[in-house]
Amino acid sequence: MDAEPLQRPLVDVSIDLISQHQAPTGAYIAAPGYDAYAYCWIRDGAFTADAMDTYGHHDSATSFHHWTARTIKRHAHKVDLLEAETDLALRGTGDPLRPLDDRYVLHTRFTVDGNEGQGHWGNFQLDGYGFWLTSIARHLTLTATDPAPYRDAIDLVCRYLTLTWEHPCFDSWEEYPPRRHTTTWAAVAKGLSDSGQLLDNSTTVATSEEITRRLVGHAKPGSTLLKFVPDSAAEAHTSTTKTPESSELAVAGHERIGRPLAADTIDGSALLVLGTYGPLPPADQIVSGTLRAIERTLVIDGGVHRYLEDEYYGGGLWIVLAGALACAQAEHDSRRANEVLDWIETQADPNGHLGEQTDTHLRKPESLKPWINRWGPPAKPLLWSHAMYLLGVAATESGNKNSSVVSMS
Ligand code: BGC
Repeated sequence: MDAEPLQRPLVDVSIDLISQHQAPTGAYIAAPGYDAYAYCWIRDGAFTADAMDTYGHHDSATSFHHWTARTIKRHAHKVDLLEAETDLALRGTGDPLRPLDDRYVLHTRFTVDGNEGQGHWGNFQLDGYGFWLTSIARHLTLTATDPAPYRDAIDLVCRYLTLTWEHPCFDSWEEYPPRRHTTTWAAVAKGLSDSGQLLDNSTTVATSEEITRRLVGHAKPGSTLLKFVPDSAAEAHTSTTKTPESSELAVAGHERIGRPLAADTIDGSALLVLGTYGPLPPADQIVSGTLRAIERTLVIDGGVHRYLEDEYYGGGLWIVLAGALACAQAEHDSRRANEVLDWIETQADPNGHLGEQTDTHLRKPESLKPWINRWGPPAKPLLWSHAMYLLGVAATESGNKNSSVVSMS
């Protein structure tokens, strides 16, 4: 069902901006005017297409999904090779920055023509492909479209994720490649479940159930999704353990920064998987427990830190995550969801543009300048921020209608 009356001030500008920066090929440019993001990310695009679908702009979503399916099929030989050499491939490269050799990797971002980006980048990221599977399943259902033209691409992604999901990879922030990530697992589980149902593939559904079962088993203490999937039974449920030395690496834009994180670190990216894009129902105690933990630890006003040790551009508040917070709260407390949307609107510049993150409430103020010197001011506008705002508005409006408030205390 399409969202109705567009009352909030940034809705029209967000839709216009996304339309304006969708290439004729169907790709969405992540951040127009910001060189490092002059690509289409599968992750960002999945949510952006969903936002356009939600507001009835199905042609835009169709065009993106066609582009993605074409792009994936163009790189099908990588999945074929991975299947042929699975043992060799998953033995790893020994380089923490390259957990899987690029010959087997479906990239995380592409040029608008569907070519792999040049230069070093932490491309082995699985969450975006999980998000895409959910986004396209929603699109096909919403538009009552026959999945047949997409079957090969969806099948290819399912094969790829089925082989790789348990392997360490870069997280949603393109960091911590030696680790396994809760948000990634949740995104993959939901994507496999949605596409397994769509294509009637019971093996895919079974893999999804296995991932979800493990995810739930690791939630701590029974009710919060942590940033990392523990590496061993001994590490599970120990709050003070530091990650092993080989894992004390983070990569932001492929930068090495040594930062040990505690095993019980939480990450705002979990907000992305607390609803439609995750495997757990809204009433699950892990959903409400994680939402509470993030509100308590990472949220200031309506903005959300990625995680407390974030250094990228000083570690401000992320608009993408504020939109995800509004989506999650819409299911639980629509008053809070509206407050978060109000906060997002205060972050827009006079053109109504939203950036990637704020330059206020910095966790590491000393890290802002070095990033500005390196890549210029933070990305603005960021299409994904606008997309998450749109999804937050739509979720809140339908929450207002249903007015289902679940106590979060
Ligand atoms: C973020 C990614 C995002 C990319 C493009 C990176 O800085 O960490 O999550 O997909 O920018 O927006």
